[in-house]
Amino acid sequence: MSTILNQSELREGGVHDLPHVAGIMRDAFDPRFGEAWTSAQCMGMLSLPGVWLVIASLGEQDMGFALARIAADEAELLLLATRPSARRRGMGGALLRAVIEEARARHATRIHLEVRSGNDAVELYRREGFAKVGERRDYYRGKAGQLFDAHTYARDLN
Ligand SMILES: CC(C)(COP(=O)(O)OP(=O)(O)OC[C@H]1O[C@@H](n2cnc3c(N)ncnc32)[C@H](O)[C@@H]1OP(=O)(O)O)[C@@H](O)C(=O)NCCC(=O)NCCS
Repeated sequence: MSTILNQSELREGGVHDLPHVAGIMRDAFDPRFGEAWTSAQCMGMLSLPGVWLVIASLGEQDMGFALARIAADEAELLLLATRPSARRRGMGGALLRAVIEEARARHATRIHLEVRSGNDAVELYRREGFAKVGERRDYYRGKAGQLFDAHTYARDLN
């Protein structure tokens, strides 16, 4: 395991972390694809019951986050992002596994997510046991108005 992951810490985040989450999101998501959320969307989501935020930090700096929710026994990964300077060293996987662990602790039996068709993150999801279960045509609207399909992935948590 690389140094960056050994030195990083995961913690539960809250509303006070949202300015940093917005900064990570600006760095992480390519605006061409329309996958990022606004701060208002994050704020609105985080104030709903069953929604939680995990922050990954390295020293004093927040480098990644995951936002997830549970409804009944079904969890959903809403957002997952790491700063480009921290990538390919295990932080995204660590955040994903933390979400899965928390979903289990909240008695979810299944977790699903939507990802843009062609997003490299798919490889990470497959590695963590997710399989494709559906498609949503024209789900994301990019900066210039182009539409991109989403693929739905899911895995059981038993
Ligand atoms: C997806 C994301 C969170 C992964 O973060 P990370 O810190 O790099 O994650 P990890 O290091 O744990 O794992 C990365 C794995 O994802 C896959 N992956 C990520 N970027 C890739 C790329 N450019 N090319 C090929 N595979 C890639 C690989 O399987 C990789 O594992 P490897 O490095 O062992 O080959 C990060 O790339 C990101 O923030 N992307 C932009 C936001 C986004 O699209 N989020 C997902 C949809 S919500």
